[in-house]
Amino acid sequence: MRGGRARLAVLVSGRGTNLQAILDATRAPDYPAEVVVVVSDRPGAYALERARQAGVPAHVVPWSRDPADFGRRLAEVLDAHQAQWVCLAGFLRILPPEFVQRYRGRILNIHPSLLPAFGGRGMYGERVHQAVLASGAVESGCTVHFVTEDVDAGPVVAQARVPVLPDDTVETLAARVAEQEHRLYPEAIRRVVTGQVRFDDLAAAEQLAR
Ligand code: GRF
Repeated sequence: MRGGRARLAVLVSGRGTNLQAILDATRAPDYPAEVVVVVSDRPGAYALERARQAGVPAHVVPWSRDPADFGRRLAEVLDAHQAQWVCLAGFLRILPPEFVQRYRGRILNIHPSLLPAFGGRGMYGERVHQAVLASGAVESGCTVHFVTEDVDAGPVVAQARVPVLPDDTVETLAARVAEQEHRLYPEAIRRVVTGQVRFDDLAAAEQLAR
């Protein structure tokens, strides 16, 4: 880790419990990353409040009908804070391809299922857990992956598994998965920013496996 801790931007749209887990992890002096800016596309996101309480700059970049324009405005904010990595934590927009290419191999997302199962466009929030329950799956979990142009399909950094219990509701399953998300995301960020896990290596391995 040259030049101190890795500089993270965290993108949010909602309540921000994953942001909170990341902020809490960065309080440990030996954690290899810090959150330098939090950006929301929604002014009312509670995650913004969490950032302020942690003393981290919080910005709103409203979504635009022109996604490329949104990407440019977002990149300006990230540049102003010299962010090196981008962590999506409950960010509900699909980033434009220009933005994804610019930060290629440096954008992470967390998804509340064992990808590639129950991922893709329209699969977010409660819908994921509803689909898992409807499928009769006996196991679910969460996935941290690199973001590429294909939604929820980038190389997987880490996964955690949980059982699906017979009397589960969307709420009980979501809570069990969230507990694992809050453990997994800070650990996955650690692996990536320290170079233990590299986008190019994972992408090459996936290419070979095809
Ligand atoms: C999490 O379930 C995450 O996997 C998904 O969106 C949810 C965000 O929750 N991408 P929170 O805002 O971090 O509480």
